Amino acid sequence: MKEKLEQILKDAQGEIEKCDDVKMLDEVRVKFLGKQGELTSILRNMKEVPPEERKTVGMLANGVREKVEEAIAKKGEKLNETALKLAMEKEKIDITMPSKGEKRGALHPLTRFNNKFMDICVAMGFTVIQGPEIDTDYYNFEALNVPKNHPARDMQDSLYITDNILLRTQTSNMQVHAMEELKPPFKIVCPGRVYRNDDDSSHSPIFNQFEALVVDENVGLKDLMKMIDVILKKLFGENVKMRVRPAYFPFTEPSIEIDATCQMCQGKGCSLCKGTGFSEVFGAGVVNPKVLEMSGIDSKKYSGFAFGPGIDRSVMVTNKIPNIKYLFRNDMRFLKQMR
Ligand code: DAH
Repeated sequence: MKEKLEQILKDAQGEIEKCDDVKMLDEVRVKFLGKQGELTSILRNMKEVPPEERKTVGMLANGVREKVEEAIAKKGEKLNETALKLAMEKEKIDITMPSKGEKRGALHPLTRFNNKFMDICVAMGFTVIQGPEIDTDYYNFEALNVPKNHPARDMQDSLYITDNILLRTQTSNMQVHAMEELKPPFKIVCPGRVYRNDDDSSHSPIFNQFEALVVDENVGLKDLMKMIDVILKKLFGENVKMRVRPAYFPFTEPSIEIDATCQMCQGKGCSLCKGTGFSEVFGAGVVNPKVLEMSGIDSKKYSGFAFGPGIDRSVMVTNKIPNIKYLFRNDMRFLKQMR
């Protein structure tokens, strides 16, 4: 029996040695250690061994099994190592190969314009703030001197969620939030989405505005006009011309509308500017003292001015985008052209 076991060990070692891959090694494992394996059958038939030899034979057989298991594990490790090495050699990455063409991302045109405008305002000392797109009637209208049933409400076709809560129709709601929260003097600018029940090729129910508000001692119309002149030059270039028209907004007195050289025709006159060479960019004005008072600011000590440009129209013109909806659809075919 002893010789037989030694022979099994020798055979197993020889066969393990010859294995070139994991599959072969597994076959050898089954042959010697599996249920029908040579070693297993010896261990199973121990009762046929005379009792006085059983202990020695048992120890010997278990010893052989351990040695075979060890040899298989060792060989397995070696085979895995060689397989990995081979794969690494085969799968070498050639970093000198030319690429398959890059897919470059880019900022959305609205984001680009937004960043440009913000940079200009921040350089002038404004703080950028953001606020709710869903707001109460008070912030969107009442505190801006537009009480219920005021005809000015018809200027903006609002989307109400409840009697008292609506999607803000203008970023001007941020004027009220700012005046309630900040101590004058302050200069804030708020970029954001606004919503109105409007829908055609140049109007979308969702669009973008900025709200800029300056509250300080002795500030007025001349400061507003000078600031807008500087902003327009930085936005559209030194040659841009500005035109001011009287307007009406309930929260500013006086109110003005600012036009700038049409960016489509550079002032020559085109269908967009209806031949005038100018297109409208800003609503603006001196903050109505009533509005300051409603938000707890002493209108005898402080005054303010505000302006609120819509940005979608400018982005459409500068990028020659025919329909405002392209700005919101996230269609890759359109966005790729905007790089
Ligand atoms: N919120 C106004 C609108 O959506 C635009 C506007 C006008 C904003 C005058 C202002 C302002 O800050 O002073 O039509």
